[in-house]
Amino acid sequence: MASTNLQSNFNNPTQFIEGWYWALPSKKLKIGKVKAVTLLGRNLAIYRGFSGEVIAVDAYCPHFGAHLAEGKVEGDSIRCFFHNWKYDQRGICVDIPSLEKPLPVCINTWKTAEKYGMIWVWVGEGKPNSLPFVPELEDVDCDYILGTRFIKNCHPNVLLINAIDAHHFNTVHNLPLEIVFTSQNLNPNAITFSNITRGGDDSWFIRLIRPLYRNEVTYSMCYWYGSTGTVTLGPDFLHFYIIFSLQMIEGGKTEGQTILVTPKRPGFLGWFVNPILLWLTQRVGNYFAKGDTQVFQTIQFNLQTPTKADQSILQFIQHVNHQKSLTWGTWETLNDSNIKNLSKSNSELTLMEQEKHEFKI
Ligand code: FES
Ligand SMILES: [Fe+2]
Repeated sequence: MASTNLQSNFNNPTQFIEGWYWALPSKKLKIGKVKAVTLLGRNLAIYRGFSGEVIAVDAYCPHFGAHLAEGKVEGDSIRCFFHNWKYDQRGICVDIPSLEKPLPVCINTWKTAEKYGMIWVWVGEGKPNSLPFVPELEDVDCDYILGTRFIKNCHPNVLLINAIDAHHFNTVHNLPLEIVFTSQNLNPNAITFSNITRGGDDSWFIRLIRPLYRNEVTYSMCYWYGSTGTVTLGPDFLHFYIIFSLQMIEGGKTEGQTILVTPKRPGFLGWFVNPILLWLTQRVGNYFAKGDTQVFQTIQFNLQTPTKADQSILQFIQHVNHQKSLTWGTWETLNDSNIKNLSKSNSELTLMEQEKHEFKI
């Protein structure tokens, strides 16, 4: 059902982008077990059938409304605790013990996938688009560990722009060089921002490590569905990969999970080096998170006065506003034609005004 909501997607607590969202860690769901999960305001029961497949269904049994996570997994089906109706992996009712034949009822099922140690749910209609991946590692077999799970008092979109807020790298994180991003659309649902500067010649630290790398230090961020960000960071010979996978919880706040990733390495090298690299990656990830923890508790995001350094953030806002969106809680599709009309936000206009002004000077 189309809604008449005319709001843009960015930093909006009542709607979100159709896409893949993490639900829970794979290893938290053993074969034959079922968990209650609330995802983007909708209650689900997610279980692992005896084939190993993960099945996500709407939580409430169409008979009396019992939560199916109280039920029992049988094969790849789920049996409701209350009166024992059974639903197969397509959500179709296949057994009602008190009746000779099941009734023609079913529950909604949602597509799932497992990647980087997480169970992901496709929240949307039709065929799913691509699962989030680190662009350099699209077809690479990886090792990974799950880092911290966290709650933040602001919207996922706002938290994610921290990684491309070039200006604050200097003011908050004391980075001794200037970062300048170039953006590129990876596909319709993913946009990358990559650093293109070397800089830092007046820093002794940068001069010290410069012989170790030929090109600029790689720093790139890839945003998926406005909610998952993959960071690629490091000199040519060693890249660190950190995934910040976020989802919006009640009140437009954020629940997130960091995932640390490194390519699989063969034999002893992999066995010995990869755990150390993942540990190091986690330290790098923590460094990122450190320093601005408090500001995300209190921020009321409103980019009223953008400068040139905020250009990437405006591009990200525009990207998010062009994505197909769904309503929080119901997962109903919003009418996306209204989103298209929002290509120029107030902030963008303000920046254009400012550029005109700078030009005159
Ligand atoms: S509520 Fe599920 S079978 Fe009755
Ligand atoms: Fe930061």
